[in-house]
Formats: sequence, structure tokens, C-alpha cells
Amino acid sequence: MCGIVAYVGHQEAYPIILKGLKRLEYRGYDSSGVALLDGDLNLYKKQGKVAELESFLDGQSLKASIGIGHTRWATHGEPSDRNAHPHLSASGRLAMIHNGIIENYAALKKDLSSRGYVFKSDTDTEVLLNFIDDILINNDCSLEEAVRIALKRVVGAYVIVLLDKENPDTLIAARKGSPLVIGIGENEHFLASDASPIVEYTRQVVYINDYELAIIKGDELILKNLGNEVITPFVQQLDLELAAIEKGGYDHFMLKEIHEQPQTIFDCLRGRLDMAKGEIVMAGVQQHIDQLMHANRIIIIACGTSWHAGLVAEYIIEELCRIPVEVEYASEFRYRNPIVNKGDVIFAISQSGETADTLVAIEKAKEQGALIFGVLNVVGSSIARISHAGAYTHAGPEIGVASTKAFTAQLVVLTMIALKIAKEKKSIPQERFIHLMAELNEVPGNVERILSDTSKIHKIALKHAAASSFLFLGRGYNFPVALEGALKLKEISYIHAEGYPAAEMKHGPIALVDDLLPVLFVATKDAYHEKVVSNMQEINARKGRLIAVVTEGDNTVEALTTDLIPVPETDELIAPILNVIPLQLLSYYIGVARGLDVDRPRNLAKSVTVE
Ligand code: M6R
Repeated sequence: MCGIVAYVGHQEAYPIILKGLKRLEYRGYDSSGVALLDGDLNLYKKQGKVAELESFLDGQSLKASIGIGHTRWATHGEPSDRNAHPHLSASGRLAMIHNGIIENYAALKKDLSSRGYVFKSDTDTEVLLNFIDDILINNDCSLEEAVRIALKRVVGAYVIVLLDKENPDTLIAARKGSPLVIGIGENEHFLASDASPIVEYTRQVVYINDYELAIIKGDELILKNLGNEVITPFVQQLDLELAAIEKGGYDHFMLKEIHEQPQTIFDCLRGRLDMAKGEIVMAGVQQHIDQLMHANRIIIIACGTSWHAGLVAEYIIEELCRIPVEVEYASEFRYRNPIVNKGDVIFAISQSGETADTLVAIEKAKEQGALIFGVLNVVGSSIARISHAGAYTHAGPEIGVASTKAFTAQLVVLTMIALKIAKEKKSIPQERFIHLMAELNEVPGNVERILSDTSKIHKIALKHAAASSFLFLGRGYNFPVALEGALKLKEISYIHAEGYPAAEMKHGPIALVDDLLPVLFVATKDAYHEKVVSNMQEINARKGRLIAVVTEGDNTVEALTTDLIPVPETDELIAPILNVIPLQLLSYYIGVARGLDVDRPRNLAKSVTVE
């Protein structure tokens, strides 16, 4: 949530910051701004996407070799020029960008206001900035010390980066709970919320930890903790290709990422699915296999699409491993005094590894003695760092705000984990284990087949693009797929959509059905197939506009609708990985047909680092 970029060195800061903001726009895009220091401290801010800022600044002389930039996802205060970051302190000395939330900002603001401070924005950021400024003015101390004093009194999450008119060659940055990466160049440093703005300049990076403060000049990086002790920076080599964060000829990142799935799923399976030996190799699982096999309960904690992956995993783990599973919304779990026992294992599923609710929920479970197992995409992310063990999904950077390739990779990893536990536990016959391994191995090829001709899905999308509401139905393993289909459509097309277990539809949502309502059934061949067909009949009898994802060659429902989307046949347990692909495409095509920005849907952000 919110993207931050900063630069100090010998190059022009503005072009580097602007390019970085475009790369980080997925984190928030309701307004953006830059502050440049070249004798004068100049701030430029604009409501809207980064392109608005760019055209606003087009033709202006923006010379400076130090600067900060921000792309915002509003928390405190509406999206507007005045609420956009950077903010300027009341004294005019400091400019600051911030990602996160200052929870005790109201008390700080009250105190500052009583002492004459007047605020130009509604943000918590301006409060923290003036709090720092106030400490600086009233104490004979350096900015670094003022920041340290202020942060000890702050409750909440933050990455902040400050520019100081009186120290024109130095940036001060600090982090707690939101990510910050520093790239080390030749007499220059790059700061960003993730490595994407940095990768084309340097591969040497330092990930800043919570409660660390960085003092950064072109040729110097000093890292300290809030106790003022110097810390040796741990310099890592960046493992990220530029191509992975560019559109590569596709119109949108979302379409690129949908089409990457044969490769990302292959990457996820590679080295883990040992077909020759009939084994699944997963070091993180192996390390804790006893605890996993004998878990009293597995509690899956996640949000959004990752939560849907958790629901599929619930069905799979219970079926294969016979271990009770509960799937929890992180935002609910963290606040309801949950019962967690020592024998419980927590699976934290998160693409970004930075989702605030998930992070706090698992911290809580960890305190109560549970083993925390992360299913994560971003190496070194906050959740990765606090998990005891885990498995990466290896889907590569996902830039489109709507999760696609990360979801299928999560399903693949969770299926492998369940299979590995089941094999060790001997809770499934060896033949079933081998069969499921073989089916998993076929997934990249099967996804490739779905993606080789998307014209039918496109046609169906255009037919239903003007709908004002949509229903997605499925049963068993396909119920969470229906939920995910509905979420994707909502996010990308702004059409109201609901996902339901197909049979549950009779208990309420059927009242919505009329000849205008598209009802999409995930109706591939499985144990529930006949029942699902009956549910389709019920919708047909009420003239709903049926669409169905069906198994190739299955003509059972041809009489009910021509809007059929065939997918290759596979085991019902693996089917969600294939069945979700047409739903991703359907949402994408409908979003595009409605003229929407599918990569950056309104009000959303990729990485939800506020609660
Ligand atoms: O990074 P995470 O997987 O923890 O994110 C969880 C949700 O915020 C995320 O899946 C969200 O629902 C996406 N917009 C779905 O497309």
C-alpha cells in the first residue's frame, strides 16, 4: 500500500524517481508526488495516476540529485493534491513520504494543534512529520535523533523517508511493518518499497528490518537501530530480471500474467515433483514433517485470493491427510482471541508476504506456540521472515493488482504439501499418490491448452460485458473457484458478483435470477457433477443466462446453454487450477470491454499493508 522511491547520488533524481513510481503504481495510485532538493526544497503533487504528475511536470526544470517520490493509496484523507505525499513540515525544513498508518496520530495532532501547528492535509503523515519537526526545533539534536525520539512514541506501521534542507546530501529512512529496500550503486543509493525501481541500476540491495533507521548519502549507508547502535548492512544480490516486471508486448500485466501460468506452474513444480522416484521434494515440509503429520489442526490464515487458495487447500488436506483444517480471514482471526494450541500448525498464505492482517494474525498465533508455515511468493518478505518454515510459490513478480498466476501457484504448492504429508502419513494409497503426482505434472501443458485459444471465452465475455450482476456457482473443490471467479470479476469490471456453493443458491440467491442475470457454473466432471447439473436446471427453469466451465468432451449440459467453456480433463482435486483460468480471462475481457484499467482497478492496491 503506497509506493515510495528515493534517490541520492550523482544522477538527475527526477527521471529515476518517476520511473520508479510507475513501477510501484500497483501499490496505490490515487495521487502521487515528488520532492526535489537543489538549494530549494520543491514539492510537486497531483491527484490521480503517476501519468497525471508526469504531464503536470512536463517541460519544467527539475534539476536535483536528491529527491523522494510517492504513489498513494489513501487511508487518512481523500485522494487529492493536498493529501498527496510528500508533505512539507511547518518549518519548511523537511519533506517526508510515508507508507503505513500512524495509529496514534489523533493524539499527536491534538497536542501539536494546541501548540499552534496548522495542518494543510488530513493525513497522519503530516502529523508525524510535524512531530519530528517539533522535536527538532525544541531539542538541540540532529534530524536522525529527532526521528528516533519520534518513532519511539509512534504506534503503527511505517516506512518513512525524509529530505532535509539543512542536510542537502542526506536521506533519512526508517521502517516498521512496511517494506523498504535500498539499492547500492556507485556513489549513489536508491530506495524503494520493492526492488522493481532498483533492478536496472544495481543488483546489490539491503532489505531494511523493522526498527532500523538508515542515514543515506551518495557514497555512504549507515544503518542503526532505534537504540542508536550501528548495524552492519546485510548486502544481498538481487535475483530479479527486468523482463519480469515489464509488459513484454502484452496490453496489460494481467493478461501477461495469465499467459505466464504454464511457465510459473512449471517453475513451481520444478525440482519438487520427482516423477522418477515417485517423491515430492520440499525441504520446508520435510524439516517439520512430524509436526505436520501429527498436527491436531491446520489453521489457514490469509486474505482475498490467498484465502480462496486456502479454502481449496482445506478440501484437499482434509481429503488426503485426514487432518482437520480451518480457514480463517486474517482480519477476523487477529481480533477474536482465537484458540491456538501447541499441536496446531498455521499456514499463512500470501502473495506479497506483506499483508498487514495476515502478518499480525500469524504473529499472534506464533506467540501462542503454533508452528508457522508460510506459502509465499516474495522471497524475504515480512511474513517469510517471521515464519518458522515454508514453501515459495515461485510465480515471479505479480504486478497486475488482481492476483492470477500467484493463485494457481499457491494451489500447486498447497497440493504438493498435502500430498507429501499424506504420503508420509500413509493416509492415501500409493497408487492415488502417484496418480495425483502425474496429474500435477500435466498441469502446465493443460493450462497451455486452455490459453492456446481464448476466442470463445472472449466472445462469451463480450456477450455478458454489460451485465450489472453475476453469480458464480460451484460445489466441492470448485466452490472456492466460484468465489475466486466472483472476486476477480468484481475487482476488474466493477460488476457486482457473488460466489456461492451451487446448492446453497436455493437458500436465497436464487431470488436474484431472471433473464438478465449471467450465472456461471464451474461444472467439470467430479463427484458432484450430477448434482451441479440439477442446479443448472434450476437456474435454466428461471431463465438465468447460463455459462458453464465443463470438462472437454462432456456434452451433458449442451441443451442448457451454448456458452460452454471446455477445459482439459483432470482429477477433481487438481481441477481448480485449470478451472480458474477461464474465469480470470472472462474478467479480464469484460474489464477491457468496459474500458477499465484492469491492472489498476479503482480503490485497490496490490499489497495491503494497512489493516
Ligand atoms: O499478498 P496477499 O496474497 O496477502 O494479498 C491478499 C489479498 O489482498 C489479495 O489476494 C487481493 O484479494 C487481490 N486483489 C486479489 O486479486
